[in-house]
Amino acid sequence: QKQGYDWFMRKEIFEQPKAVADTLLGRLNERCELVLDELRISPETLRRINKIVIIASGTSFYSGLVAKYAIEHWTRIPCEVELASEFRYRDPIIDPMTLVVTISQSGETADTLMAIRHAREQHAKVIAICNTNGATIPRESDAVIYTHAGPEIGVASTKGFTTQLIACYLLGLYLAQVRGMKYGDEIDALLRELERMPAAIQHMLDQQQQVLDLAREFVDSPSVLFLGRHVGYPVALEGALKLKELAYIHAEGFAAGELKHGPIALINDGLPVFVVVPPRGRDQLRDKVISNISEVRARGAKTIVLGEADDAEARAASEVYIELPKVSTLLQPLVSIIPLQLFACELATVKGHDVDQPRNLAKSVTVE
Ligand code: M6R
Repeated sequence: QKQGYDWFMRKEIFEQPKAVADTLLGRLNERCELVLDELRISPETLRRINKIVIIASGTSFYSGLVAKYAIEHWTRIPCEVELASEFRYRDPIIDPMTLVVTISQSGETADTLMAIRHAREQHAKVIAICNTNGATIPRESDAVIYTHAGPEIGVASTKGFTTQLIACYLLGLYLAQVRGMKYGDEIDALLRELERMPAAIQHMLDQQQQVLDLAREFVDSPSVLFLGRHVGYPVALEGALKLKELAYIHAEGFAAGELKHGPIALINDGLPVFVVVPPRGRDQLRDKVISNISEVRARGAKTIVLGEADDAEARAASEVYIELPKVSTLLQPLVSIIPLQLFACELATVKGHDVDQPRNLAKSVTVE
């Protein structure tokens, strides 16, 4: 039931604080240690892993891209992310020391299923991150970390994405824990910060009116661009995917640093460009992204910037500023994606599209 919302998608966007809290529930003990009992792969095996390969499709692939930054940073294990549809056709190098992590909301995506079957034939260990109890992908994996988002009905994934991020963070931090990585208080602080994320997401939802107004303003734009760096880059890709799926308009996400290597030629007068600014503390990156805002603005783009509430420089560089709460860099996608989901949902609504059942799309893609 839509419980008073016009679309399941909008309801699911607003369910994210709870979905994230439920996905964290019971996975941290009172000493703030991670407990992932469902991971039926022994700590000894996890200590021997020398490579991680994340395989997924669509939005789940983008959560995998965020996971790569986090997992490599916390565990120092090399981590690749690959589209499931590409994986087995390139004769990938995997062996029993490879940990394959597959991410799928539905657990039934054919491309992803075929990819993990291939990985298991090469004797890799496979952990599934999945939202659907007993689906084919978790059944065919060695272990599963369930996201507890509840059923996702809207074709466009929203709470699927944010809860996948949580599961990926938990896995990364767990691997760091079992491998005895020494980060002083950093891991403890992150675990505590994860517990504050439902409130941070709620804070973003409470600011929705600004985004709804923007969607109305840009309803006739033929194209929208999204820029981000580091974990902001997958957020840019996901923001663009949401808009393509729901509003049927040209939308592209770019790594902001790539702008000068081509995409800047697309900028013309009035083109809406969303830019995700990294938190302060990653100042080198942040400075570069702020320069990118000026570069696209000088060429006529209308810049909509997502940055920390007290980042005066980012605010000054932008035309429209969407305030993000202060969170660690690696966790920022959990809050920066919220306005982009709301923007796509609202723009499609104003256009009169069926938001829950976009044309040509199915909720789970069970053919390769
Ligand atoms: O169920 P899965 O997570 O395996 O689905 C993967 C993609 O098909 C899915 O994320 C798709 O891209 C969504 N429609 C995105 O909103």
